[in-house]
Amino acid sequence: MFGRKKPEDEQDPRGAQPGGPAGAGAAATDAGATGGRGGDRPAVAMRPGSGSTPDAARPAASTPAGSAPGRGGATAADAPGSHEPTPAQVNGTAHEPGRPAAAAPAGSRPPGGGAASAAAAGAPGSAAPASAATGGAQAHAASAAPTPARFGAAAPLTRTLRPGGSVDLSTVLGPLTLPNPVMTASGCAANGPELQRFFDVSQVGAFVTKTVLAQPRSGRGTPRMAETDAGMINSIGLQGPGIEAFVTTDLPWLMQAGARVIVSIAGNDPREFAAVAKTLVESQAFDACVGVEVNISCPNVANRGLVFACDPAATTEVIDRVRTHVPPGIPIFVKLSPDVTDIVQIARAAVHAGADALVMINTLLGLEIDTATLRPAVAGITGGLSGPAIRPVALRAVWQVYAAMQAGVMPTRPIVGVGGIRTGEDALSFLAAGASAVQVGTAIFNDPHAPIRVRDELGEELRVREIASPADVVGIAHTRIPGRDR
Ligand SMILES: Cc1cc2nc3c(=O)[nH]c(=O)nc-3n(C[C@H](O)[C@H](O)[C@H](O)COP(=O)(O)O)c2cc1C
Repeated sequence: MFGRKKPEDEQDPRGAQPGGPAGAGAAATDAGATGGRGGDRPAVAMRPGSGSTPDAARPAASTPAGSAPGRGGATAADAPGSHEPTPAQVNGTAHEPGRPAAAAPAGSRPPGGGAASAAAAGAPGSAAPASAATGGAQAHAASAAPTPARFGAAAPLTRTLRPGGSVDLSTVLGPLTLPNPVMTASGCAANGPELQRFFDVSQVGAFVTKTVLAQPRSGRGTPRMAETDAGMINSIGLQGPGIEAFVTTDLPWLMQAGARVIVSIAGNDPREFAAVAKTLVESQAFDACVGVEVNISCPNVANRGLVFACDPAATTEVIDRVRTHVPPGIPIFVKLSPDVTDIVQIARAAVHAGADALVMINTLLGLEIDTATLRPAVAGITGGLSGPAIRPVALRAVWQVYAAMQAGVMPTRPIVGVGGIRTGEDALSFLAAGASAVQVGTAIFNDPHAPIRVRDELGEELRVREIASPADVVGIAHTRIPGRDR
């Protein structure tokens, strides 16, 4: 049985850890400025992608890594300020002079970079995305049979798949064990029924709901979404029904559907975060909830609108307050913004305040201009950039925080990677960078089956590499840095 551990066998979750249906009506990250008028056109159709054949162009890994990635516990590192490594160690930039530069980038992303506007612009429950789903992701799935083991002779895995054995996709996130590491991303999967006709929502590792606030919110003016070269910009403005309606309608529906639910919450100030958490925890359907995701990428009205995620002190206060309501057996996932100077600093503040896992990343603040009208493409002027364009940024964030944990800069916690994931191969890249699970967001607008497809593709990516489970590959890229073979 997967799910959170029952109270009787609960362990300290802060202890050592081992190693178009959707977005319509969805809430969104709230980083954009307000005001301005949008263009008159709806979001344009999907731009052609520019991918190439996967795998073939990617060089085989050559670094003899020695061992599977360690995921040591939080011991001395739990004390703030304990043995700090150099920024270069954390940032992965500690290249020694004369070392060869990193290998050429793989250049092997699949086609279909854009998100289907049918889903992006659709009304809640619209069936439009079904036809839009014929885009790049599905084409890729058909043409991208993974090539066999690319670890080469220097297989560093401590546990490999037995001949004829099957991959165990389960993953452990603190007190929570999930049957597979693929979740939906908040705001991209609505609250369940919209996706249920494409796949059984109980089949994803966890279903992350759109961010809910204390009160109902209608969100920003339209247009709210616009396509970009390799993704999209949204300026939804955290539209949603409010926590009371959510726990009365949405959560019970997810419960009867058998979903493992991670509820995403936010607030306009730390007290509101706490109030939303309290209402959630006290609700009848709370048993369906296996985790709470705290979306700190929204403005703190109590502090001149400074986004919580950009302020370690505000991050600490929010998590502190939420933690007082959420029982210890329910992990708190803190979702970080990439729009900060030092993401490790925020990650560390979140963990010291009680975060059990970190989710990286939320959207990046972006802007698109509609050249037909020479207006900003969304009414909020700026919005959150998501999709394939941000995958390297998300990978970088995961890498930096995982490296900081390994270096003892901060306690070790599981990381959930999100940003531009469309395929199992994308998901694998996040595991290798240090994530123990992933979320699929914008890809759903193009292919409503994406979370399940990514799950299946990831299983196949692991199988052909003879990797027994996701845990066996978490963080492995840190031991395989080009030019640092030992
Ligand atoms: C339309 C839309 C709505 C979103 N709404 C939320 C939200 O309510 N809460 C949140 O934490 N993230 C929200 N996000 C951010 C995603 O969950 C995810 O972090 C981000 O889009 C990067 O992943 P992706 O590139 O796979 O979409 C939203 C993203 C999009 C595209």
